[in-house]
Amino acid sequence: MEYMKFSYTNFKVSKIGIGTWKLGINPAEEISAIKYALNEGVNFIDTAEMYGTETLVSKAIKGYDRNSVFIATKVSPHNFNYDNLIKACNKSLERLNIKYIDLYQLHFPNYKISMKETFAALEYLVREGKVLSIGVSNFNLDELKKAELILKENKICSNQIEYSILVRRLHDQIINYCKNNKIEIIAYSPLLRGNMYRKRNIKTNEIFEELTKKYNATTAQIALSWLISKNTIPIPKSGSLEHMKENINAIKIKLSANDIKKIDDIKQRKSSMVGLGEHIIKHYDYHIE
Ligand SMILES: NC(=O)c1ccc[n+]([C@@H]2O[C@H](COP(=O)([O-])OP(=O)(O)OC[C@H]3O[C@@H](n4cnc5c(N)ncnc54)[C@H](OP(=O)(O)O)[C@@H]3O)[C@@H](O)[C@H]2O)c1
Repeated sequence: MEYMKFSYTNFKVSKIGIGTWKLGINPAEEISAIKYALNEGVNFIDTAEMYGTETLVSKAIKGYDRNSVFIATKVSPHNFNYDNLIKACNKSLERLNIKYIDLYQLHFPNYKISMKETFAALEYLVREGKVLSIGVSNFNLDELKKAELILKENKICSNQIEYSILVRRLHDQIINYCKNNKIEIIAYSPLLRGNMYRKRNIKTNEIFEELTKKYNATTAQIALSWLISKNTIPIPKSGSLEHMKENINAIKIKLSANDIKKIDDIKQRKSSMVGLGEHIIKHYDYHIE
């Protein structure tokens, strides 16, 4: 595995993480797939109170040294007021069965609750030692800049956004800003939620046919390798051991600059969720444990 220092922390995270949204269908198989990844050196797990998978994550990390795993979870927008955020954090800690969260992320922006109040609660949790670092998710550039100005004692360490070979319109500005300000980009839905192998246009198909042959890799691996080459941390979700192995092995593929450019130039056909603010939540069928 390869590692990188996660901005504004002392933790070296693996360059590929584990997504957990929609796990819980075959818990035993999914937990052993996560354990396999941990044994292979992957140490970054992403969950959220909304996914209902924090308990499953607690089972997967049982028996591993707490300091060796980077646990990222998220608080839901309806819990962004001061008291609710602290309660939500305590509940996540309980479900995860841990004493601190490595990265606590705001799941989406919430325009109905003042950011000042939300960040005051997050900074309190850092002072209490319950949260080690603060991140956001689905924040556009303006929201990100506003958040940075509001935080008093901490930095925004990361922005988790939808980012993949085909979903990256609107992203250049955010990516450049994050790079310049040492804010990590966590790339969610890096495999297009499983739609990697759906029909694409002919030119795109040709590029993937060429690259999968050249690197002796699958389309999923090329997609993940491209995200890693951009210094983002992809967090593919897989409940199957076979897919988990395939995804982790993407780390071994080193795309040439020319091939990265070929993917860069693929025509975009989907818009990003970033910037939809509070409306984004309506797109998802989340539940809370
Ligand atoms: N912050 C946010 O708002 C937000 C939103 C969405 C997601 N996320 C995070 O990002 C993670 C990943 O995103 P996602 O779950 O939306 O989608 P994804 O990782 O892009 O795709 C997951 C789907 O791809 C399949 N898959 C995995 N590996 C594969 C492979 N090698 N070949 C073919 N299919 C493969 C999985 O099926 P199997 O399980 O059968 O392998 C699953 O159906 C989430 O789990 C969550 O942690 C965050």
